[in-house]
Amino acid sequence: MAGISQQTIDLIRNSADIVDVVGEFVNLQAAGKNMKGLCPFHSEKTPSFFVSKERQIFNCFGCGEKGNSVTFIQKYKHMTYVEALHYLAEKYHIDLEYDSRHVETHNTSDNLYKANDQALKYFQLNLLNIKSGKEALDYLVNRGLDIKTIEEFELGYALNSGKTLFNQLTKDFQPLDLLNAGLINQGDTDYYDLFRGRIMFPIRDESNKVIAFSGRVFGNAENTAKYVNTAQTEIFSKSHVLYNLNNALPHVRKNNRVVLMEGYMDVIKASIAQVKETVCSMGTQLTTDQALKLKKYTDNVVICYDGDRAGKEATYKAIKILEDVKMNVQIAIMPDGMDPDDFITNNPNFKEFIDNNLTDQYEFVYRMITGKKDLTKAREIEVCKNQLFDFFVKTSGTIRDIYLNKFAADALIDINTLKADFHQTQINNRITKTLKSSLVRTKIVPKNLPKFRKAEIVIINYYFYNPEFRASVDAKGSSIFFENKDNWTIMFTAQETNKTFTTGSFLVSVKSSLSENLRDLLDHILFREGYEYTFSEFESCIKTLEEANLNDKINSITEDIEEAKQNGDSEDVIKELYLQRLEIQRNINAMKRRETK
Ligand code: UTP
Ligand code: MN
Repeated sequence: MAGISQQTIDLIRNSADIVDVVGEFVNLQAAGKNMKGLCPFHSEKTPSFFVSKERQIFNCFGCGEKGNSVTFIQKYKHMTYVEALHYLAEKYHIDLEYDSRHVETHNTSDNLYKANDQALKYFQLNLLNIKSGKEALDYLVNRGLDIKTIEEFELGYALNSGKTLFNQLTKDFQPLDLLNAGLINQGDTDYYDLFRGRIMFPIRDESNKVIAFSGRVFGNAENTAKYVNTAQTEIFSKSHVLYNLNNALPHVRKNNRVVLMEGYMDVIKASIAQVKETVCSMGTQLTTDQALKLKKYTDNVVICYDGDRAGKEATYKAIKILEDVKMNVQIAIMPDGMDPDDFITNNPNFKEFIDNNLTDQYEFVYRMITGKKDLTKAREIEVCKNQLFDFFVKTSGTIRDIYLNKFAADALIDINTLKADFHQTQINNRITKTLKSSLVRTKIVPKNLPKFRKAEIVIINYYFYNPEFRASVDAKGSSIFFENKDNWTIMFTAQETNKTFTTGSFLVSVKSSLSENLRDLLDHILFREGYEYTFSEFESCIKTLEEANLNDKINSITEDIEEAKQNGDSEDVIKELYLQRLEIQRNINAMKRRETK
């Protein structure tokens, strides 16, 4: 197994001149030091696609696409990084040399899925084994699950001993795979199983792959978490996953709705009660990501959370998230203190209940906000009022009117006063918002900007400060690249402008080529105070940018890796990308070491 050697890659990069490479596909004309043409990545009538021979990069000010000759070919020809290298090597008659350096590829996600799958079978056998699984099985049967359901949900049992899973799975897997899958932990001297003496719930993703487990204690175990979940791994992140979505999907499609619950047992019991379009998030607040995942399949959600205070509050938060992604929300309210599992145990007609006892989100929110309040007290009216404004500002005017009227009646206040208050609140909010944004604008370099963005601003300022800094920036060539499009446009324009002008007329000349917005931005950057105008500040900004650029590259390679995996590209291709990434990381590390010296 080998990848293209670094020398070959360098050779390809040095031979494949950007103007030549791009020029084959884009009609380029000279524009100062650079070339420009119509961008091949978006449709435009006037050229905003620039190619710099000196820096060997392209950059489109219209759509923001940028990169070097290899990435140009990647994007233009829809190739992977390695395919683009092959393409260019052929074009420039470069023989490909391979490198036999060995890369550890054993923690690819594939192995993690396989390890989980094998663990699942092992847990299932433990549960069904009359000797080891009896107590766990009795517990589940006592909770109303029959064998068919237990097998349908693939429940299992993790033995209550140190490392039986470890011993079993290391026949086929490296300990590192098991660690990466979150199945085992590493102690001071040895490995041990993460799940011990627990009933196991496997968690599958939408494509039915086992990505994690949750283990529940039972019997008289104390001082330990009720459920232990797989920690975050390469293939599992709790806040992105919905339990049982894989099984629920056909039912979600058929019924055009999804029922959202809080717990595994709730979901399983709902399925027994023939409500099979059910999923749950795993002990965490519903996330926008999860909401969007559901929206791919249906626009209709029924929230059926626990009937306690926490459940109601979680419902309120979930409503807001689901409203934001424009889902239709209804709520099945459980009796006080019951979760769906309890409800189903007491009332087998859960399906009927859930079809006939739905509350809409407005009613639920209204009751939730006003429910326990004493609306004869001015203070409590005021609190409720503000919470209602907060929620109903996002609804249609009609819905808002309905509930403002209701509140006026319930709190015995005049509806016109209430409406006037609502409008005043909106005006106040808008003023606060404008004030805040103008504060940000006058601060020019706001504190919370990322470090590399600040560096960009400082460098632009230096560039206009005196010819000496201008020369230093120009000398840096392609190692200076701004992430922010506006900053980059200013810098690019400035570098194109004739430098023999005095600083004053240089500025005038640059400004004459900028749009009004960018002229304003440049003024802000230039008239801010607090620059040191030292070479050490300058160098440190350059370093920040270089590091940010390298990190950018790492991210883009990481994306390529994901893409390659999804395309089912060969291991060679993927390994090549890993090598690239390692190499860049090495550069970053070297840079950091230089900094700390
Ligand atoms: P609940 O405490 O409501 O548990 O937690 P449950 O689902 O009703 O479980 P049973 O009926 O007691 O068996 C709801 C969900 O929160 C997560 C689990 O996903 C659980 O299903 N949770 C809860 C944890 O992850 N860890 C815990 O320690 C507790
Ligand atoms: Mn429960």
